[in-house]
Amino acid sequence: MLKTLKQHIAEARDNHVAIGHFNISDLSALKAIFGAAKDLGVPVIIGVSEGERDFIGVKRAVALVRNLREEYDYPIFINADHTYSFEKIKEAVAAGFDSVIFDGAKLPFEENVRQTKKVVQYVKSKVRGSKSEVLVEGELGYIGSSSKLLDVIPEGAVTSGEALTKPEEAKRFVAETGVHLLAPAVGNLHGMLKNAPNPRLNIPRIKAISEAVKIPLVLHGGSGISDNDFMEAAQNGTSIIHINTEIRIAWREALESALNNNKDEIAPYKILAAAEGAVKAATLSRLKLFSGLQ
Ligand code: G3H
Ligand code: ZN
Repeated sequence: MLKTLKQHIAEARDNHVAIGHFNISDLSALKAIFGAAKDLGVPVIIGVSEGERDFIGVKRAVALVRNLREEYDYPIFINADHTYSFEKIKEAVAAGFDSVIFDGAKLPFEENVRQTKKVVQYVKSKVRGSKSEVLVEGELGYIGSSSKLLDVIPEGAVTSGEALTKPEEAKRFVAETGVHLLAPAVGNLHGMLKNAPNPRLNIPRIKAISEAVKIPLVLHGGSGISDNDFMEAAQNGTSIIHINTEIRIAWREALESALNNNKDEIAPYKILAAAEGAVKAATLSRLKLFSGLQ
């Protein structure tokens, strides 16, 4: 029988590696990410933000991922990424997501605790007694909110210094909300700066938060982070790493050149194959790194 997402995360944490989480907007990206994970034999999480899942169809996104899991007996999971309202959490749980993220990072601390706790209690009450546990992730520390190319660091985002998530605050947040997973602000940033490298991760801070909360950490904003920072993050309690901007760039560049190089081609599946190949290659190299295979 397949292991649960919770078991895979616990295993990754014990082995000081991380599971890759990649966002999709369509079937070609799903095929690419699944193909990359399967080539390496590692578990993988598909993420869909509110916008991505509305585009695909909330229930359809779950059905597509479940279909792969069942047809190939493969550990591929689906996460309701960055969910900002209780209503959307309810919709995701009803649709059958394996995990949900309640994103209260922009809220004042006490309000973030209050709303996240409400989500945790709701999700636990809904799935109690059923064999599949739905995991809830909380967010503490704002790191921007878009997987795109950035001119500057978004207003309000914290990427360094004392404003990063504090271990004591994280400990209180986890104790009071009961989340299974925590996403802190530790030098990571959603999106990639156009004209400069993204900030470095604060590894001592990741270690201190991990020791304080004693639950697996999730690193958002993985695009643009150095290989070495990724490896050290995984060694110090980061069990899931999110990547989106990098694969969006790979998708767009491959699509543009496929269109430019084949002016008379009108078969979508022939053009999209190039985008799928590029997303697969980008995913493969990140997954190798996160899984300690390179
Ligand atoms: O939830 C999605 C991610 O955190 C992706 O961040 O676009 O910077 O890779 P990224
Ligand atoms: Zn994110």
